[in-house]
Formats: sequence, C-alpha cells, structure tokens
Amino acid sequence: MNKKISVSFLSSKNEKKDIIKLERTSADYIHVDVVDGRFAKKKHKPFRKLYKLGNTLTKRLDVHLMEKKPYKSINNFASLNTEYISIHVEIDKVDKYIDLIKEYGIKCGLAIKPDTDISALDPYWNKIDMVLIMSVYPGKGGQEFIDDTIKRILKIKKIIVARKLKIKISVDGGINDKIAKKLDFADVIVTGSYVTRSDNFEEAIEKIRTSTERKKIRKEKEKD
Ligand code: DX5
Ligand code: ZN
Repeated sequence: MNKKISVSFLSSKNEKKDIIKLERTSADYIHVDVVDGRFAKKKHKPFRKLYKLGNTLTKRLDVHLMEKKPYKSINNFASLNTEYISIHVEIDKVDKYIDLIKEYGIKCGLAIKPDTDISALDPYWNKIDMVLIMSVYPGKGGQEFIDDTIKRILKIKKIIVARKLKIKISVDGGINDKIAKKLDFADVIVTGSYVTRSDNFEEAIEKIRTSTERKKIRKEKEKD
C-alpha cells in the first residue's frame, strides 16, 4: 500500500489561499491542526474558515485536535468531509471522546507527544484506527524532526503486528523529502511547512511521494 500524504497548513501565511491551492494538488488529505492554547500554546481554530469554503473543499480532512477538551471540535468537524479525527492520549476522558468520534462513523486516531511513553496507548489498541506519532512538540509548524521518533515508530509497528491489528501509523512534524525516506512503517505522512513554504506545492508533494516509493523499489530489487 502506498503511503498517504496529508498536508498541514498550520504555518501558512494566507490559510484560505493555501487551502484552495492544496485542493488542486495530489495530496491525499488536508491535515487540520487545532490548538486550544492550553494543551499547546498559540491558538489555532480553523473550523469556521473550512466551513465557509463549503463545497469548494472536496479533499478529505485528517483532523488533529491538540485540545484538552475536544468535545466541540469533534462535533464541528463531524459536519465536514472528515475521514480521521485524532485526539491526544495525554488528555482526560480519552475513552469518552473515542466513543463520540466512532458514533459519528469517523475513523479515530490517537495522537502521542514525543515525550509520552508508548505504554500510554495500551488501553486503547482495540478501539482506534490510527496512531498519530508526533515527531515534534505540538503547537507549531517548521520545527525539526526528532530522530528518536524512528525507534518509537518501530515499537508501535511491532505492537500492531503482534496483536494483528489494522491500525494505521501516521507521523507528524518536521518531515521533508529526506526524512520521508526514513519512515518505512508510516502509512500516513503529515507534512506542513515543507509544502506550504515551497513555490510549487505539487512539486514538493511529489518529491515526498517519490522519495518513499524509490525506497520501496530498491527494497524489491534487493529481494530478487
Ligand atoms: C505540530 C502540528 C504539525 C505541523 C506539521 O503541532 O501538529 O501538523 O504543523 O508541520 P511541519 O511539517 O512544518 O512540522
Ligand atoms: Zn498535526
């Protein structure tokens, strides 16, 4: 299965313009970062902007809620073209929010910060569709990829395989075409500033796509 590419507009200077530009690319999802100013600093609440775009927005949304109380956002984004809603494992009442997302028939992701022990995910393995592994600290785009993430992805992949689960792995933060090559076990690659700060969005997305695909071809050749 090819990796999906989900593009975040968190560091866009002109969000509306960039969302419309993303709509015309081959990105698989638009990654929507929501920040409450408490779970992480610097509020970011793009719901109204997306809502107003109405039918001009056809890409599916991959929503990442960096909020202590994501109740309202879950309800809001359930009314849009949303495929995934991810909440954070570090907040209270995770079970309640997972149930709410599932009630809407939306796929549920559980996001984990870089310094949270992976065992925090243990109670939820049978309830979720995706793990969103953060490779930067939550709150802003344009940060550097934390290398330790590679080990964490591997640990999570092992758990998923051992338990025979169908959970997707999404990796979020600091990803460019070079980092993307290292993300063997990612099903979804979230990338923000690498695309939105480039002159040509499609070219940047294609670079990430080919850098992951090339590696696959190389591996297949090695097998021959
Ligand atoms: C960080 C966000 C990420 C981020 C991705 O809090 O969750 O989605 O914006 O952007 P880059 O690729 O610039 O790190
Ligand atoms: Zn994100």
